[in-house]
Amino acid sequence: MPKKILFIFGTRPEAIKMAPLIDAMRNSEKFDTRICVTAQHREMLDQVLKIFGINPDHDLNIMTGNQSLFDVTSRIISRLQEVLAVEKPDLVVVQGDTTTTFAGSLAAFYTRTAVAHLEAGLRTGNKLAPFPEEINRRITSVIADIHLAPTPWARDNLLRENIPARDIFVTGNTVIDALFQVVAMLKRNHPDFGATFKGIDFTKNVVLITGHRRESFGEGFRNICESIATLARKFADVEFVYPVHFNPNVRKPVYSILHDIVNVHLIEPLDYEPFVYAMEKSYLILTDSGGVQEEAPSLGKPVLVMRETTERPEAVEAGTVRLVGTDKTKIEEEVSRLLIDRNQYLLMSRSHNPYGDGKASERILKILEEYFTGNFID
Ligand code: UD1
Ligand code: UDP
Repeated sequence: MPKKILFIFGTRPEAIKMAPLIDAMRNSEKFDTRICVTAQHREMLDQVLKIFGINPDHDLNIMTGNQSLFDVTSRIISRLQEVLAVEKPDLVVVQGDTTTTFAGSLAAFYTRTAVAHLEAGLRTGNKLAPFPEEINRRITSVIADIHLAPTPWARDNLLRENIPARDIFVTGNTVIDALFQVVAMLKRNHPDFGATFKGIDFTKNVVLITGHRRESFGEGFRNICESIATLARKFADVEFVYPVHFNPNVRKPVYSILHDIVNVHLIEPLDYEPFVYAMEKSYLILTDSGGVQEEAPSLGKPVLVMRETTERPEAVEAGTVRLVGTDKTKIEEEVSRLLIDRNQYLLMSRSHNPYGDGKASERILKILEEYFTGNFID
């Protein structure tokens, strides 16, 4: 009898990082794969589902405009009760550190269902940064039975929290599987993204920007936008391309401060394929995104991270990612330096893969097979 695996996810990055494993599992006779999306994100989730051909068995459709953490958590918990009762899975798989991740784990625990956690063990050690993700992932680690750590550093964090070594596996991050699939597709098919990037000149140096962290709402986002405005005026020959996250706390300051600067291109969140294309074509990336910090080193793109802390120190140590926080002067100095000083730029442009080799899903599939056949290493 195949084992029934229920994937629970709800946001864009979870979907991108789950997709390669879902694909691998669908091709295995050992598993009966079911998918439940909470739809904590709606449009940004649907973009990913479409690209990877994922049709959910259950869609909780919980997103509302400017939702609070209370809204998201309570809706997910109450609506998962029925899904778990109907599906009775042998294992629930969650990913990362969103509210869907933590609420999905908790719901599984309430039905005494085993939980596998992808991207386990990331930590900043500061419960308020990132907020609420640091606590979401810590709670998930307390509940999970199988901990799939992307790197040795993440494994060590879990060991320090007394998670048994036999339940932790270093697999690489599935985001690199997804990235490599798309990079190969772009090389093979040369799709035309002309309409998506209308008015943007990729023959010029491009600074690609993303941002959405809750702890930066308010002053942090105003600082970020004001420094982009200053930089765009100073470097008139550089294109600043910013696909703006749908969160209204992000959109409001971004559109009010940056809408009328000719070389700042505010565009809608991109499908994953054109976003990877834009990363490949960019000169440098300015972001607070977790996923982008993981992908950019594999593409050899320098990343300036607009946060005070990171749970992904591997690329910082390797010198291709630098933390710049949300201080205006610091952002302006660091971006200017990379635009002006070619040697500094080259030092940060080394391509390397600290977060995975593109084979994480293969490894995870094997680990889950062994979990059910009783060969789980003790
Ligand atoms: C969420 C996650 C964060 C993750 C990020 C990835 C939590 C608490 N936050 O943050 O960990 O890094 O996703 O992007 O789990 N919205 C839309 N359409 C969409 C998506 C969002 O309109 O497709 C708007 C809605 O008004 C929604 C708001 O954005 O209420 C906030 O969405 P939410 O998922 O609560 O927070 P994010 O900032 O997206
Ligand atoms: N991404 C995308 N379109 C965009 C911006 C980002 O497909 O317009 C991808 C990006 O390549 C990465 C993921 O979305 O894989 C990151 O999502 P986000 O920054 O929303 O969340 P985080 O990783 O910070 O949790």
